Amino acid sequence: MKLLLLSLGLTLICAHTEGTHDAVTSNFDPSKYSGEWYSILLASDQKEKIEENGSMRVFVEYIHALKNSSLGFKFHIIINGVCAAIEFVCDKTEEDGVYSVEYDGHNIFKVLETDYDNYIIIYLINKNNGNTFQLLEG
Ligand SMILES: *[C@@H]1O[C@H](CO)[C@@H](O)[C@H](O)[C@H]1NC(C)=O
Ligand SMILES: *[C@@H]1O[C@H](CO)[C@@H](O)[C@H](O)[C@H]1NC(C)=O
Repeated sequence: MKLLLLSLGLTLICAHTEGTHDAVTSNFDPSKYSGEWYSILLASDQKEKIEENGSMRVFVEYIHALKNSSLGFKFHIIINGVCAAIEFVCDKTEEDGVYSVEYDGHNIFKVLETDYDNYIIIYLINKNNGNTFQLLEG
């Protein structure tokens, strides 16, 4: 399942100008991926979470690297047919490049790969009432 998810990938395509950075897979610099993004792909091993009305059917609008090393995210989500914006502050964990946020349970996520300009792949694990599922957003 993990491999399948990885091959599907979640790639966020950046709304701003094209750049020439090479792909980076570790030691990310969050200030470089701050900016506007939009989601083009969601994959999960719990399909209903990302289907219509699913709590994880979220579309990224921007990622903002905060001064205290937390990451601010703005998403939009469609709840009961109405589009709503949600913002999160995701705090850094002890593990480098791994962040956590409370939303529909406890989530930890990390950036798997980005070229800073055109795409970013984020891998998230959600734990809620003993259930766990994985999500890839890109
Ligand atoms: C970092 O700053 C943001 C915004 O000011 C705040 O919401 C968040 O709790 C802070 N994180 C930590 C770990 O202090
Ligand atoms: C999602 O919610 C809307 C509004 O409540 C409803 O009309 C629609 O049937 C729901 N879709 C699914 C797949 O549950």
